[in-house]
Parts: sequence; C-alpha cells; structure tokens
Amino acid sequence: GEPFMLGPIPRVIGHRGAAAHAPENTLEAICCAAAFGVEMVEVDVQLTRDEVPVIIHDDTLDRTTTGTGPVFERSWKEIRELDAGASFGRAFAGEHIPTLQDVLALCRELKLGLNVEIKPYPGTDLRTAEIALSVLENFGPLEGSLLVSSFSVESLRTAHSLAPHLPLGYLIHDRPDNWAAIADEVGAATINFDHTSETPQTIAAYAATGRPLLSYTVNTAARAKELFDLGVAGVFTDFPGRILKVAK
Ligand code: G3P
Ligand code: MG
Repeated sequence: GEPFMLGPIPRVIGHRGAAAHAPENTLEAICCAAAFGVEMVEVDVQLTRDEVPVIIHDDTLDRTTTGTGPVFERSWKEIRELDAGASFGRAFAGEHIPTLQDVLALCRELKLGLNVEIKPYPGTDLRTAEIALSVLENFGPLEGSLLVSSFSVESLRTAHSLAPHLPLGYLIHDRPDNWAAIADEVGAATINFDHTSETPQTIAAYAATGRPLLSYTVNTAARAKELFDLGVAGVFTDFPGRILKVAK
C-alpha cells in the first residue's frame, strides 16, 4: 500500500500535548496526554536559524521559555539550552524544547498518533515543510495515525507536491471564500477548523466535501458533544480528561 495513509482519527487529540496540564509542546506534555488515554497528540513545528525543526508554538521564545526573541534567529545549540518548563510551573523546570525527531521517537514508544502542525516563520513556509517532511520520511511510519497540517497554504502545497500520499490537514482560521478550491488543490485529507468561527451551516459545508473534520481548541465537554453531534470526527483539546468522558 501507500507509505502514508490517513489512519483512524481519534475523537480526542491532545493540543500541544496536553497544554492545560504540562508545559505545551514538551515531551512531558505528550507523556501527560498519553497518561490521560488519548491516542493522538498535536504539536507545532518551526525551524531554528540553522534549520533544525523544533517544537514550539509562538514565533518567539519569550512566553514559554527562558529565551527571548524569534526562534528563527537562534541556533539549535542555543535553543537546546533553554528551559521550556519553568514558566508553566516550577515542578516542570528542566523541560526543553524538543526536536521533531524527539517527538516522533516518543510517539513511537508510546504508540501515539501524531499531528504535526507546520508553523513556518514568515518567509520560511516552503523550507519548513520541506525539512519537516524529510524528517518524517526518514523516520518512517508510526503505529498511530500521522497527519501533517498547516494554516500556510504554501506549506501545504509544498508538502503535497513532495509527498502526495501524506495525509494533510487544511487548517482554517478565517475561512477564505476559496477554501474548497484550496482544500482540493492541496489534496487535503481533513479540514481542521476553529470552532469559535463557524456555524452549523459552515460546518455542514465542510462535511459535504466528504472529508473528516477536526476542530480546535475545544476545552469543554458540552462544546465537544455539540461538535460530535454535528459530525465532527475529532477535537483538539488542552483538557483531554474532560473530553474523553463524552467521546464515545
Ligand atoms: O492544529 C490545531 C491548533 O493547534 C491550531 O491553532 O494556534 O493552537 O496552533 P494553534
Ligand atoms: Mg497548533
């Protein structure tokens, strides 16, 4: 069969690991999500100055680490020294920014599925996708499902042309008029939308394309249940424990 196929999409996807319970986008957050019983986690990937794909959400280091300034202006050697846990809680001091490779290894070990969100620093959309994909391809398959997603249409285009069979999630924040054409062009396997910007009608329009739908960031059981009832396949959440209760 194909090297990459869209595997089963679990109802609950740990957002940045399990961002409410452990420092986001760290190995500890992924372990924490697994301990709750989730089958898939989402992380954000961007490049250091020397093009190492690292796991961090913001394009600057300030909020989540002991560093400052843009991630893209620092080398991996500088980034690896930073603490990425202490700002979340003293008990988490000593956590570091992981590489994409680190996260893949942990997901393999924990038998977790993984959603790699490509989060390019402005101007690096193509390169970030290219490098993330080469790491994924060299690593090979996980036991769990693998999904690559991005808000960047250029990153998605790059990923689709380099690896046509890799399942891609088209992330939508402010729905553009031509969203359906973009989804087709990049061969999107899923549509991943912001649940606060959509109506039952717009969700139905996404569903009518035949793609499984994922929704972010859903932090209450009541909202998750509404979305599941509207046909949403899975939700990204900072609070996996809350959503797993209504996920059957
Ligand atoms: O991939 C879902 C979600 O992570 C997208 O938004 O800003 O949390 O990366 P953000
Ligand atoms: Mg994300």
